[in-house]
Amino acid sequence: MKNLIINTIVLALTLTTTQSFATDANTAMAERINQQLKAPGRDQYDAIKDPGRKPFEVVQFFGVKEGMTVLDMFTGAGYNTEIFSAAVGEKGIVYAQNYHFVLQLINGARHKSMLARLVNGRLPNVRYMVVDAEDMPFEGNVDVAYWGFNMHDVYNSVEAHEGEGGVQKYLRSMYRALKPGGIVGISDHVGEAGYDNVEFHRIEIRIIKDMLEKAGFVVEATSDLLGNSNDDHSQSIYGEGLRYNTDRILVRARKPK
Ligand SMILES: C[S@@+](CC[C@H](N)C(=O)[O-])C[C@H]1O[C@@H](n2cnc3c(N)ncnc32)[C@H](O)[C@@H]1O
Repeated sequence: MKNLIINTIVLALTLTTTQSFATDANTAMAERINQQLKAPGRDQYDAIKDPGRKPFEVVQFFGVKEGMTVLDMFTGAGYNTEIFSAAVGEKGIVYAQNYHFVLQLINGARHKSMLARLVNGRLPNVRYMVVDAEDMPFEGNVDVAYWGFNMHDVYNSVEAHEGEGGVQKYLRSMYRALKPGGIVGISDHVGEAGYDNVEFHRIEIRIIKDMLEKAGFVVEATSDLLGNSNDDHSQSIYGEGLRYNTDRILVRARKPK
């Protein structure tokens, strides 16, 4: 009986200590991200995106922790890379990837913005690379691989990016990059069956899940953290009042152990 009481007390203390470590770590990460939002040298469009992207909450949902290695697939101009950089802190690493198509996209504007973000050793824990998905040099060393607001482009853009085959190529590369048990995070603009999602730059949630499962991931959770019930999915993401404010879904999945 006495042993049972002692064990119970020890367990309670351990849980309390573990919880307070987790809370401290979360507070510290939130603080690093908040500081980063005010840091000089961010891209001119970042601040416009901040309110609609809820960076700390999103990073939490995808399970990013201090010291982790994160892969930001198709980083574009690097909004998320900058957030991940603050989230993982100086002991972590962020691999920011763009495929070669980025050099053609808007005369390479997103690539140039990404380079500008990194001048003079800004974001020292970030490694930027322009490399196609199949040539990425990672093998099982990544904790979290994130692919933001781009699956719809690859899935829908048949002429340039092979539709479903292109998405699978991407997801397979992320699968290879991840550690066993590692997390893949997808965010995208919600599309609805029956609408022209190609024209609207959207994708159905069931297609995102299906793509992940076909690539061997186990879907774990979805979140409407970036949801907007005023967006009825019936117009383009660039429609009136929708820019940076669409109904967006987050999907978290895991590479099996
Ligand atoms: C918003 S960026 C996503 C960058 C970054 N991952 C993020 O979350 O901020 C994706 C944009 O790049 C362009 N894009 C990227 N890949 C494309 C493709 N395969 N076909 C057409 N447009 C593409 C589109 O303009 C699209 O809106």
